[in-house]
Amino acid sequence: MSQQLSERTIFITGSGGVLGSTYVRRMLAQGARVVATDLPGHRAEALQAAHEGNDNFRFYELDVGDEDQVTEIFKRVITDGWQPNVVLNNAAITGEMLMGAGKSFPDFADTTVADFERTMRTNLTGAFMVARQMDRDIVGNYPATLINVASMYALNGAHHPIYDGMPFKNFSAYGVSKAGIHGLTVWLAGYWAPRKATVNTIAPGAVFNGHSEEFQRRVGELIMAGRMAQPDEIADAMLFLCSAQAGYITGQLLNVDGGFAAW
Ligand SMILES: NC(=O)c1ccc[n+]([C@@H]2O[C@H](COP(=O)([O-])OP(=O)(O)OC[C@H]3O[C@@H](n4cnc5c(N)ncnc54)[C@H](O)[C@@H]3O)[C@@H](O)[C@H]2O)c1
Repeated sequence: MSQQLSERTIFITGSGGVLGSTYVRRMLAQGARVVATDLPGHRAEALQAAHEGNDNFRFYELDVGDEDQVTEIFKRVITDGWQPNVVLNNAAITGEMLMGAGKSFPDFADTTVADFERTMRTNLTGAFMVARQMDRDIVGNYPATLINVASMYALNGAHHPIYDGMPFKNFSAYGVSKAGIHGLTVWLAGYWAPRKATVNTIAPGAVFNGHSEEFQRRVGELIMAGRMAQPDEIADAMLFLCSAQAGYITGQLLNVDGGFAAW
């Protein structure tokens, strides 16, 4: 494929995860400059090690829930010489992240306000703060696009029985935050249009990441394609939304879910 992203400087939050690291690899291969950000830790270290020495790759530590850090981030990147024209609100507290951190998944009745707000802070307030900073530092200065990452479980309810006996669960704040992020997309689309910025939502389906045969079977029964996605299949759509070819698309939600949302 041609270097379809060679005019793109792509800023990504939560870029060390399963999907983020796939996006980074694919974007670099398509000629983009990539400004990868994430919390400090093993994911960030692995991502930096994978792309060390690539002149089109830069990494910044960023907690999207920290207002001071978000307020400074684009100024830092721009002062360092790069101007992001694509921003991905990709960071999230996910079920798999909580499982990896050894967290429990309380029933809904036992979910504390602190649990709920912790997820909302990262997944939704964080996305708002990144978008607001993009408005301040990027939108109107040059054409730009924002891609908010939702989920198959944003506008569709979770199928709770498929998580019975599994080491991770779908938790309430996750779906609520992901529905909210599409609200941010449609709100911003008209607001930014006069300043030549577009904003869209991508809603990935269930992405395979070493899940058990039993989980794959259960989730596969809910999906027209009959199987989970590979990370590269989500990246294919993400790269399109980042490209100039998506320039007339704004305010939309793109399901990349093997037909899950279309039954
Ligand atoms: N993998 C899937 O099946 C799937 C499906 C639908 C939607 N999504 C969405 O895609 C995006 C990426 O998912 P993933 O599967 O790569 O998840 P992941 O758990 O592998 O990665 C999430 C990343 O977000 C980072 N993060 C968490 N809190 C943060 C904070 N406060 N500040 C900055 N970074 C933070 C983590 O460090 C991690 O690198 C998420 O928004 C997720 O909700 C994933």
